[in-house]
Parts: sequence; structure tokens; C-alpha cells
Amino acid sequence: MTAANGILMNLMQTPHLSDHPSSAAVRLITRARSPFWLAPMAGITDVCFRQLMDEMQAGVLISELVSAKGLFYNSAKTRKMMRVHKNPGTIVGIQIFGESSEDIAHAANAVEEIGADFVDINLGCPVKKVVKKGCGAALMRDPSYLEKFLSAIKKKIRLPLTVKMRTGWNEDELTIHECVEAAYQSGCEWVAIHGRTRAQGYEGRANWNLIAEVKSRAKLPIIGNGDIRNADQAKRRLQETGVNAVMIGRAALRNPWIFKECIGAPASRSGVQLLNRYLIGLRENYDTRFTLIFLRKFSSWLAFGYPAAAKFRKNMFACHSVAEVMQQAEKFFSQVAHLPPPVMEDDEAFMMGGHG
Ligand SMILES: Cc1cc2nc3c(=O)[nH]c(=O)nc-3n(C[C@H](O)[C@H](O)[C@H](O)COP(=O)(O)O)c2cc1C
Repeated sequence: MTAANGILMNLMQTPHLSDHPSSAAVRLITRARSPFWLAPMAGITDVCFRQLMDEMQAGVLISELVSAKGLFYNSAKTRKMMRVHKNPGTIVGIQIFGESSEDIAHAANAVEEIGADFVDINLGCPVKKVVKKGCGAALMRDPSYLEKFLSAIKKKIRLPLTVKMRTGWNEDELTIHECVEAAYQSGCEWVAIHGRTRAQGYEGRANWNLIAEVKSRAKLPIIGNGDIRNADQAKRRLQETGVNAVMIGRAALRNPWIFKECIGAPASRSGVQLLNRYLIGLRENYDTRFTLIFLRKFSSWLAFGYPAAAKFRKNMFACHSVAEVMQQAEKFFSQVAHLPPPVMEDDEAFMMGGHG
């Protein structure tokens, strides 16, 4: 068996898949390009970033979380957040959050209209404003309600349904096994697990032992997520835990070539080339102000870990035009081109907050 075939085998390894209420479970996951997926990140995994990561060979692409209610009240802006690029090379999901199954089912129709392949429900957002309304991680506190909630959505939508959750509300409420069972019973295609509780936020380490335990019992595909820093770690997690795929979030911001590295595809690692490609997408989708904001952020992440990155970041935020940003970036990345890629350490704090 080749390494690539071995890796693809993981996507299929789920003992009870044939008994699954939805036979689409087999079809959807087998359409994934590889088992190394881009994690959803609010304010980041918009249409431009997803397109870029598609070109970087990410296995599956998922949007930032989109409010089901937002589709009622600010439809144009919310629809913009959900946009899917032309001819994606793999499956694309739109992540929705909300407290009403009716609203989510309504939002799912819009997801279908824009040409996405599946609807993902956010059950992991730890943010107070979200959990206070009974959305995100709050939905993990009552697995039997969760089953009714997901079943009601599933009955009303045509697209495949997936979920992304945490391990539970806190150490005393590790409801992950029950919530995975609820997802299975309601006909979800897979469960992605960020291996932390809601109480942990982004502190401590993702609990991969628990993810492996969940995988060993689960009757539907399990996607593991949390703290993967490099391609070797991604492959190791996949092999050691037997999960069907892994999701990579923050590491892809500092090393967007990580998905290519995971599957052994050649990667040029040119920061300037990547920024130029990203810029084309930004210009197609945003005005100059937003283009500048996204470009500054992305170039700062790419520079992280190189000598003088802090100075570069400061310079970036003093730039008032796209041309200035590109000029500074060209200078910086040509100066560091001969250096080995920065290593992202296990205990290094980076972007310690988010919506899942
Ligand atoms: C800035 C940021 C925004 C995030 N937004 C979302 C989101 O919209 N939906 C979601 O399910 N998870 C979200 N997350 C969580 C990530 O998908 C992922 O679960 C988490 O970052 C752990 O994976 P990592 O260590 O590979 O980054 C976000 C994380 C970050 C850092």
C-alpha cells in the first residue's frame, strides 16, 4: 500500500458506517481530498482564504461560523460570508450557529443555494454572548435535547449535516460520548472534536487521548482537532488515534503550506507568491479598506517566528496602501528566504481565542 493510500484509508475507517441512518455518510467523507482539513475560523476562513487553502490542497474547507438569525436580519452581509469559490477542488461546508432548529433549517436552504456541499453546526463556540443564548457549546450540556435539535434540522434539510463540538462544558460535564451518540442517532455525517472543554477556552492542551477513546466507540466518522503544529504531528495524530481525519486551524495561518506537506506535495514556500495570490482573491471580493486589513493580518502571520517579525508586524500596521504592504512584504520575505522555516513550539501561545 502506498503512503497516500494508507492515509486515505483513514477517511473510510468507521466500523458501523453501513448501519448509519444516512448512507450519504460514506459518500460525503469519501469526497474529501485528504484527511488533513482546514478548521473553521471566524474572520479568517472566508471565501478568499478557503480558495487559497484549496490551492494549498486542504482536504476539506469549512467557512467561519455564520449566524442563522443573521440571515434574516442582514441577509446580504451574511450571504457574503458564506460565498463559495468557483470550481473547488474538494468539498466545502458552511458552518451555522443558532438556537432554533427552524432558523438553522432556513439558513441551510441558503447554504444549498450558494452551492456548498454540506451544512456544519457549531456546537463548540465558548464565547459568552453565544452560549448565553443557548448556542455553540451550550448545546452540549443536554445530549438528549441535542439529539432532538439535530434530528429536527436533519428532517428539514436536503444537504448532508455535520457537527463540530468540544469535549464538553467542563471537566465535570464531559458529555462528548453522549453528544457523539446524539449526532449519530440524528443522522449526522461526522463529528469534528476540538479536544478541549468549553471552560478551557484555548488554555491547556487538547485531549487527544479522549478523542482516541471517542473514536474507538463512535459509530460515525470522527475528525480530531486541537494544537496540531506541523505536518509530522498531523500524520502522527491520524495514525495514533485512528480518527478519520484531522482539522488544522492556527498552524495553517503561520504555515499555509502545511496541507501540501501532509500529503507530500511539493510546496514552494514563497511568502510573496502566496500573498500575491491571496491579493487577487481579496480584490475580487472586497473594497480597498478590507483588502488592506486582511492582507496586513495574513502577512504578519506568515512572518511569525522569523527574526525581526515583531518589527515587520509593526511596519505592516503603519502601511496605508496595498502597494506599501506588498513592498514591505517583498523586502522582508526576500531577507528571510534563505532561513529554515520557523518552528511553532508546542507550548507557544498563538491566537488564544476563537469561536469553537
Ligand atoms: C481566530 C479563531 C476563530 C475561530 N472560529 C471558529 C469558528 O467560527 N467555528 C468553529 O467551529 N471553530 C472556530 N475556531 C476553533 C478552531 O476551528 C479550532 O477548533 C481551534 O482553533 C483548535 O484547533 P487549532 O489548534 O488547530 O487551531 C476558531 C479558532 C480561532 C483561533
